[in-house]
Amino acid sequence: MIIFKHTNDISNYLFFSEASGKTTGFVPTMGALHSGHISLIEKARVECDVVISSIFVNPTQFNDPADFEKYPISIEKDIDLLEKAGCNVLFIPSVTEMYPEGLAAQKHYELGFIETVLDGAYRPGHFQGVCRVVEKLLHIVHPHQLFLGQKDYQQCMVIRKLVESMGIKTQIVICPTLRDADGLAMSSRNIRLNEEARRKAPLMYQTLSSIRQIIKPGDLSELKKQAIDHLTAGGFTVDYIEIADATTLSLIQYWDGHTALVVMVAAFINNVRLIDNLIL
Ligand code: PAF
Repeated sequence: MIIFKHTNDISNYLFFSEASGKTTGFVPTMGALHSGHISLIEKARVECDVVISSIFVNPTQFNDPADFEKYPISIEKDIDLLEKAGCNVLFIPSVTEMYPEGLAAQKHYELGFIETVLDGAYRPGHFQGVCRVVEKLLHIVHPHQLFLGQKDYQQCMVIRKLVESMGIKTQIVICPTLRDADGLAMSSRNIRLNEEARRKAPLMYQTLSSIRQIIKPGDLSELKKQAIDHLTAGGFTVDYIEIADATTLSLIQYWDGHTALVVMVAAFINNVRLIDNLIL
């Protein structure tokens, strides 16, 4: 695996080395890698000749500075995992390498409705920061395919919109959420759960699964209220549980029984914010 720290070096490599002319798959990450990330690398290996990953804890997507400070970092272990998984090229830029213009200079992305709901509403500016870094990364890497995890469902939709609006041909491949044996969605943030919180955390997936089992056409407000009460009783502080149109993310209060739905949740346990979702 070849590691690059500078934009010019990775660009030159991808355009002028044996990597050029081959199909490329890109897995952007913020490090603290787990099996979910590795499953994206493995999928990219199956689909593409050259697999590229990046590790960059992007400051502009953290609406809460304390969350940024606490974001887990395990770079040596990450490099080892990527190497073993068969990643070919790794980009580890610094903040000044990614943002030579400085962090304050803001570009605004017109994301429309999807930025106003769910994490867009609870984490103001988050998706603007995601777009800012992903646009830069895509301009550097120019991958044929971009591999993203379904756990970040809304992020996948935002990035799809960004890619469409940039008019680039990168194909977005959304890969299933990987879960621990007890159902907890794998996340870099899980490292921050203490023993008690880790024991309680699977309630999030159990709650989503029971919604999937019992949902019926009609008014969904009581179902959502019960789910919030259930999570709260289990020790969570809930930002939201919403049932949305799986294609548009419009929130659904009354289900016609036909529209494809996704149930999305964001909640804190032990001051760690976890998210999850299930297609219903
Ligand atoms: O999902 C993530 O890890 C990040 O949001 C991403 C896509 C790497 C952008 O920083």
